[in-house]
Amino acid sequence: MGEMMDYDSEFMDASREYKFTTQDFERVKKLIYNRAGISLSSSKQNMVYSRLVRRLRANGYDSFKAYLDSLESPNNPEWEAFTNALTTNLTAFFREQHHFPTLEQHAEKRRNKGKIHLWCSASSTGEEPYSMAMSMVQTFKTFTPPVHILATDLDTHVLAKAKAGIYSLEKLDKLPKEKLRKFFLKGKGVHSGYAMVRPELREMITFRQLNLLDNNWPVRGPFDAIFCRNVMIYFDKQTQYKILQKFVPLLAPDGLLFAGHSESFQHAADLFRLREKTVYELVNK
Ligand SMILES: C[S@@+](CC[C@H](N)C(=O)[O-])C[C@H]1O[C@@H](n2cnc3c(N)ncnc32)[C@H](O)[C@@H]1O
Repeated sequence: MGEMMDYDSEFMDASREYKFTTQDFERVKKLIYNRAGISLSSSKQNMVYSRLVRRLRANGYDSFKAYLDSLESPNNPEWEAFTNALTTNLTAFFREQHHFPTLEQHAEKRRNKGKIHLWCSASSTGEEPYSMAMSMVQTFKTFTPPVHILATDLDTHVLAKAKAGIYSLEKLDKLPKEKLRKFFLKGKGVHSGYAMVRPELREMITFRQLNLLDNNWPVRGPFDAIFCRNVMIYFDKQTQYKILQKFVPLLAPDGLLFAGHSESFQHAADLFRLREKTVYELVNK
């Protein structure tokens, strides 16, 4: 099997503009693992090549080796684009729909207990934090609910898109019409084909860059809920555990932690207990 894969990658090499050796791939793997905790499997070689080759061209390098050598310097400004190129940002409005009624009931219980603080810790292009904001508007029946949402991501490129809050109508076609009408402003003229989230939703959210792997997170709890969905899958169990340990003091005693559909925190059973499908609560409240 191993030999077949080698043959395949040699074959792919021949059709590539730049030589991309297994050694180059291993270097990329190590660099992105150390920086972002992302574990790339060997099946990602073609993806890595096609995403990074643009960076080689943009910087005028004539080999992967030269490009990767430049990243040995941790202060190289190219680190940002390298990281952005290797993250996977797939997301959707009201993804994993069942979480939103849970969030709404949770907020409902906190009504009259002061401001609610939510953290969306891998916010990608914004669909997730805006869905949270829409849920809160529905719960409190006002466009200015007593809610603040912190939305963070490692990737500065997706954060900029999230902040802009402009989506193509195609991306919105799964949203029920009444939500579309209530929460978006439809673009006209040059903006036709696009819609922008209402400014009131954006005002509920602070967007900020944050690497979940960093030792110091510039965030202050306690949060009533933390969304950490579909990002832990890129990390190994040890890295996941370290992040979960750091969530503990940031979550209110009866706060909730929302995970992605294929993520399980069973290996951190000393920290978090499953409350319902992919929703966790603290073991020691
Ligand atoms: C697949 S998207 C998930 C988006 C959203 N949470 C959802 O479930 O639809 C994963 C996001 O995690 C971000 N990410 C990857 N590594 C990260 C890290 N070390 N720290 C913070 N965010 C990271 C990526 O930039 C990407 O936007």
